[in-house]
Amino acid sequence: MISGVHAKGVKQMLEYIHGLPDQLEYCLQQEYRITIAGGISNVVVAGMGGSAIGGDVLRCCLSTRKSVPVLVSRDYRLPGFVGRDSLVLAVSYSGNTEETISAFEDARAKGARIIAVTTGGHLGSLAEKAGIPLITIPAGLPPRAALGYLFTPLALMAEMAGLADGIRDEIRETAAVLKEIREELCADDPDGSNSAFELALELKDCIPVIWAAGSDLEVAAMRWKGQINENAKAPAYYNCFPELNHNEFTGLEGPEMLTKRIAVIILRGGNEHPRIGRRMDITREILNDRITKFLTVKARGRSRMAQLFSLIYTGDFVSTYLAAIYGVDPVPVNLIEALKKRLQDG
Ligand code: PA5
Repeated sequence: MISGVHAKGVKQMLEYIHGLPDQLEYCLQQEYRITIAGGISNVVVAGMGGSAIGGDVLRCCLSTRKSVPVLVSRDYRLPGFVGRDSLVLAVSYSGNTEETISAFEDARAKGARIIAVTTGGHLGSLAEKAGIPLITIPAGLPPRAALGYLFTPLALMAEMAGLADGIRDEIRETAAVLKEIREELCADDPDGSNSAFELALELKDCIPVIWAAGSDLEVAAMRWKGQINENAKAPAYYNCFPELNHNEFTGLEGPEMLTKRIAVIILRGGNEHPRIGRRMDITREILNDRITKFLTVKARGRSRMAQLFSLIYTGDFVSTYLAAIYGVDPVPVNLIEALKKRLQDG
């Protein structure tokens, strides 16, 4: 049984996480009354943190199709190529994130077609006032626990724009895969049969370094890192093959007093390039006497979307159990809030 002063927060986060597949299904049932004219040359998702990551999932899902480029912009200004042929999806769970509001205004100045996705806040008011299509999603969650609400409308907008044929089937498959995973991993009293809890125990007192088996899976590694940071309040880092073999890998030759704390978690998909498989084997052989913990998590499902979400979902549970093991409350993100408050004050 998870106990201690922060048990309530852990239980709360597990409840939030439990809802992810239902969020996907909820969005599928919505009727978004938005028209998107053709002629879109690029899609830009503007957002930060928990609100931006759905854009990366979209980018990866569309990259297997003959679609247009998707870029996730995490900044105040949008790139110079954004113009009338761009579809800008401005995403902020709270609606009050200053970078996203600024990017939204930049998109307006550049004449882009815009859709805002938010629970309300300032972004919601600005969109309403300017007559810009607005998708209002359910409020009351930490943004990182609302990934289904933040991602699915983007996928459905891409479908509406003719850029994502068949994406509804992928969303359905993803929800089904996630339901299977939650049956296995969601528990108030996890034990040795719960692989996410076991993995969290392995990560205790280590610095997790998450490596994705290819850039297609990078977003899953990024999410694991972010969830360990925000839920377990612990440092974590990520990278992906093959790029890490050209830099990060050499850092592991470093002082043993540093490297002995590292636990590498490799996230594997179902469709890796064969040379990536070979690279991973050789990398492990070379690092074997330096890195003592190599852990592997395998994706489930057929589609790219299901595979990404299956990895992401497993990481959501691992990071929450790690919070329980460290005795911290996974829900509040006090440092983020304190920084935002100070920025608001001037
Ligand atoms: O997880 C978090 O709370 C953050 O990463 C937020 O998502 C980020 O600060 C942006 O806020 P919002 O999602 O409200 O735009």
